[in-house]
Amino acid sequence: MAPLDPHSFTDSRNPATTDISLSLYFDFPSATIHGVAFFILSLPYAGQLSFDTRSLTIHQVLSPINLSPLPFSLSSSPDPIKGTQLSISLPDDPVFNSFFIVFSTSPSSTALQWLCPPQTFNKKHPFVYTQCQSIHARSIFPCQDTPAARIRYKALLNVPRELSAVMSARHVDRRPPVSGEGHSHLLPNGFNSLWSSETRVVEEFLMNQPIPPYLFAFAVGELGSREVGPRTRVYAEAVNSVLDAAAKEFAGTEEMIRQGEKLFGEYAWERFDLLVLPPSFPYGGMENPRMVFLTPTVIKGDASGAQVVAHELAHSWTGNLITNKNNEHFWLNEGFTTYAERRIVEAVQGEDRAILNTGIGWKGLKEEVEKFKDNLEFTKLKNNQEGVDPDTIYSEVPYEKGFQFLWRIERQIGRPAFDEFIKEYIDTFKFQSIDTETFLDFLEAEIPGIEKDIDLVLWTEGTGIPPDAYEPVSDLYTKILSLANEFKLGRMPREDEVADWRGQEWELYLENLPRVLEASQVLALDERYRLSESKDYEVKVAFLQLAVLSKCRNFYGEVEKTLKEVGRMKYLRPLYRALVQGAGKEEEKILAKRVFSEARECYHPIAQGVVESILAKHI
Ligand code: BES
Ligand code: ZN
Repeated sequence: MAPLDPHSFTDSRNPATTDISLSLYFDFPSATIHGVAFFILSLPYAGQLSFDTRSLTIHQVLSPINLSPLPFSLSSSPDPIKGTQLSISLPDDPVFNSFFIVFSTSPSSTALQWLCPPQTFNKKHPFVYTQCQSIHARSIFPCQDTPAARIRYKALLNVPRELSAVMSARHVDRRPPVSGEGHSHLLPNGFNSLWSSETRVVEEFLMNQPIPPYLFAFAVGELGSREVGPRTRVYAEAVNSVLDAAAKEFAGTEEMIRQGEKLFGEYAWERFDLLVLPPSFPYGGMENPRMVFLTPTVIKGDASGAQVVAHELAHSWTGNLITNKNNEHFWLNEGFTTYAERRIVEAVQGEDRAILNTGIGWKGLKEEVEKFKDNLEFTKLKNNQEGVDPDTIYSEVPYEKGFQFLWRIERQIGRPAFDEFIKEYIDTFKFQSIDTETFLDFLEAEIPGIEKDIDLVLWTEGTGIPPDAYEPVSDLYTKILSLANEFKLGRMPREDEVADWRGQEWELYLENLPRVLEASQVLALDERYRLSESKDYEVKVAFLQLAVLSKCRNFYGEVEKTLKEVGRMKYLRPLYRALVQGAGKEEEKILAKRVFSEARECYHPIAQGVVESILAKHI
């Protein structure tokens, strides 16, 4: 089998799936989805077809002609990273280009978080949502789960009537279910007859632009929404205070879309809706097409919420139109998007804000490279991920080193030429999945001689930070860094010096303090500026991390509370790591273990796995 993607059983000799129709019955009491999927291949095919699955039960594979069973087998033990391989034998008489699979998910499906009513805002109804990137779509339905493949899909979501559903797709209809529609008569265990029960409703969706499987997404719950722009509505649980705050926070979205279009070409996805999830959402944002998913921690009434939206919006061009072929080229998604995000931020919030973000990123990059000092492979832009779980090596390197690489090219050829290049790049490769070599070939063809000025091989294949990377400069950035330096000499910033500071200024300041302080210094800083009580989690977590690393135990109560109220991995990772890393941490390790055992149920399965691997490494 020719290798295509180290994280997928997809066989490059098999035709790709081009279209999927899904009929999904959501059974909340058992946290299970029962589904019928109809697959269309790019070509008629006879022989073995290899699909990815994880914790799925495959009931039947059926012929499209007479619904007779087709032979299939599952690999005997699951691969810890890739999951279970599904092999389907398609006969050569007749030769098919389509087939059905009848399947059920399991409550441990890694893409799905099922929340019971007490875990939601209004405590009345259950909630379920997906997170498929990087390799979790396979735990919802069998598929060729590689970004090298692109699919169109239709979906019928059959849910309790009091709930509603959203997807990263066009909403076609909400209506009473029809018995047998979408081949739902094939559903197992009596769910075929429950399909058309009076207590249920069908939400129908269509995605007719081809997307990689990791961009498949839905959420089901008691949802409400507010209009915030001509192509943007913000959705969240139907709680007025949450919806109002979200609508206010994201009022500037249309302006960002317009700036994005000026820079990168027409917005291709028609709508740009936002969904604010419960606090357990494991990321800041996820760029699901037509409907970005967001953590509620971005709603805090300052510029940084818009920054996350700018980032996910930027993926509409870089990531969703042009996609990395597999995770070894992840920088093509995230590095490009970080660059594009900062251009949008610069256009709507000014250069100073963009430079501040670049500065926070620069510090982050240096720290990540330091963290990977025993595993330099993951300081390379293009890296080898054979046998590696993408969730456990997730870091800022593809974001910030990728950003630095593109910024370096911009400095070389000048902004006008680079802007032209990016537009050309997007236009040439839209709706394609590409690798680093394809990018470099295009770069060298469009900008002849670039390889003489920039060491492209060092940038894409070398470890660490190349010498021509660049720390940003601005008055504000320099001032914050010099104040952080003065703290080392014993001077705390004066009130007038921090009077205009918002979250990002504090974040940059805290991140540039020494990693370990005297406990008395930590206390003094908090007494003056109350950082441990900040409503901004970026600030609060940066401070609490410093407190834990400095073993300032007064704040452990706040650390516990934070770990129990949010599930965003950007906050879980540094706090759990600070607790368990290093010698002489017995009390902290006991605390980490206890808090995790109590909080675990509230985390998304992906976050559970990531925290487990941090604890396993150090305890
Ligand atoms: N696509 C990512 C999130 C992701 C990456 C999920 C890898 C799963 C695997 C998203 O666009 C992202 O980068 N989110 C950031 C936002 C930030 C950089 C503004 C986050 O969640 O922190
Ligand atoms: Zn991103």
